[in-house]
Amino acid sequence: MTVRHIATRPFADQKPGTSGLRKKVAVFQQPHYLENFIQAILDTAGEGLRGATLVLGGDGRFLNREAIQTAIRMAAANGAGRLLVGRGGLLSTPAASALIRSSGAIGGIILSASHNPGGPDGDFGIKYNMANGGPAPEEVTGAIHRRAAAINEYRVTDTPDLDLDAIGETRVEAMVVMVADPVENYAALMETLVDFPRIAGLFRRGFRMRFDALSAVTGPYAQEILERRLGAPAGTVVNATPLPDFGGHHPDPNPVHAEALMAEMMGADAPDFGAASDGDGDRNMIVAPGLFVTPSDSLAILAAQARHAPGYARGLAGVARSMPTSRAVDRVAKHLGIPCYETPTGWKFFGNLLDSGRITLCGEESAGTGSDHVREKDGLWAVLLWLDILAATGKRADAVVREHWTTHGRDYYTRHDYEEVDAAAAQGLMTALRERLATLPGQSFAGLTVSEADDFAYTDPVDGSVTAAQGVRILFAEDARAVFRLSGTGTVGATLRVYLERFEPDPARHDLPVQEVLAPVIAAAREIAGIERHTGRAAPSVIT
Ligand code: G6P
Ligand code: ZN
Repeated sequence: MTVRHIATRPFADQKPGTSGLRKKVAVFQQPHYLENFIQAILDTAGEGLRGATLVLGGDGRFLNREAIQTAIRMAAANGAGRLLVGRGGLLSTPAASALIRSSGAIGGIILSASHNPGGPDGDFGIKYNMANGGPAPEEVTGAIHRRAAAINEYRVTDTPDLDLDAIGETRVEAMVVMVADPVENYAALMETLVDFPRIAGLFRRGFRMRFDALSAVTGPYAQEILERRLGAPAGTVVNATPLPDFGGHHPDPNPVHAEALMAEMMGADAPDFGAASDGDGDRNMIVAPGLFVTPSDSLAILAAQARHAPGYARGLAGVARSMPTSRAVDRVAKHLGIPCYETPTGWKFFGNLLDSGRITLCGEESAGTGSDHVREKDGLWAVLLWLDILAATGKRADAVVREHWTTHGRDYYTRHDYEEVDAAAAQGLMTALRERLATLPGQSFAGLTVSEADDFAYTDPVDGSVTAAQGVRILFAEDARAVFRLSGTGTVGATLRVYLERFEPDPARHDLPVQEVLAPVIAAAREIAGIERHTGRAAPSVIT
């Protein structure tokens, strides 16, 4: 076969972050940039790649199709046996994870920059998932990085572009490419986890829902599952066509970016349930009529109620949350008598816990919730589980939330982001904060007294690996907490994230304005970290 060996030189910046390599589109458009990184992935897969199956798909953003064609030629040139590609080059991240698992693939290449804006001026990304369907662990991303840093050649076939829109099998040299419906396999998996006839009954009785796909990859999934299989009225799913620039929107499902959904759900004639997902379909946003459900609360509620769904009827082995996620799920775990693990930010840290059967459900404050059915967070799955819980209990979504607070107490929660801060200034803030940690306990700020302060480190209970410096935790004696960390997914400067929470057991105090309840915690956090002094910012750029 005609394999071309192309000489190349390493790029200095091909170090995968929280979720693969994520850069501005223009960075990926540099000659050899994408090829170098794909070759580093394939080299890291090593001998195991020969004759093996790989999954390939992306969230449809700008550059997706071209990158898919390149990856096909490179997989063939590097000896892969079979490549499963989503039609149109599309696969949501959870659907890719499911496909890797069900097809016996050795891994998958996912093209996505998740919730970051798309289009020619937006972001692009690429990551590698392992045979378990989950993101490559640190040792593998480290190996990919080392390989990319030393690369001098990549291999590519001379074959023409493939028709990505036609389902079926084609040969690219010795490799078989199967273009498959991106939804089918995923929808079948969902049917095993939640009670489709029961949810269909809900819609038959007039239940109204709005799902905003934000012009990103979940549109086709949501239309097939919600509208076709579950019988929700046409138009339930809006912004359902994936667009290369997401229609100019920020495909991040939060109250700021999903403002149309928020407005509708807060309006007088709000539907019974609102939801959205992000660019690549792994995040979710849940809105009850008149009430935004924080991802932390959503995780806790799903953990408390999951047993209603057939896939979880036997109960949960355990749960996990990322460190900055509120402690609401810890309270549920305690109530259920199951373990609750606290991991660093990043879905990959749940992998070992899920693989070893220690946990069934997990989630993050960054709008990610998932279970052991795949090894990624799964936006539409969370929505379906919510729907099944509403169908099983016959309760309104807002009532489910309020009853949860009454039983377990409410963890008031907010996140303040300082975006595109000067990187050195942000580092300076974190360093100064770390240096002060030992002196903080006992000191008072804005009327709150620090009880503990540390820099979060995680020891994986399965493989014993230690991940240090994952964010600063300040606990207050008043059952409040502030957490500081720098985002690992941004592409411009640094983003300082400040996570603020306070526990309120008294049901009479569960309906107060969030920012008001948290005002002392916010003030204490600003003072302790010297946010304005270090960053020059008097206020956060995004509050969620
Ligand atoms: C991605 C990962 C999540 C993680 C999030 C954190 O979405 O998949 O697991 O929680 O990034 O993003 P950040 O910008 O806070 O590092
Ligand atoms: Zn995502």
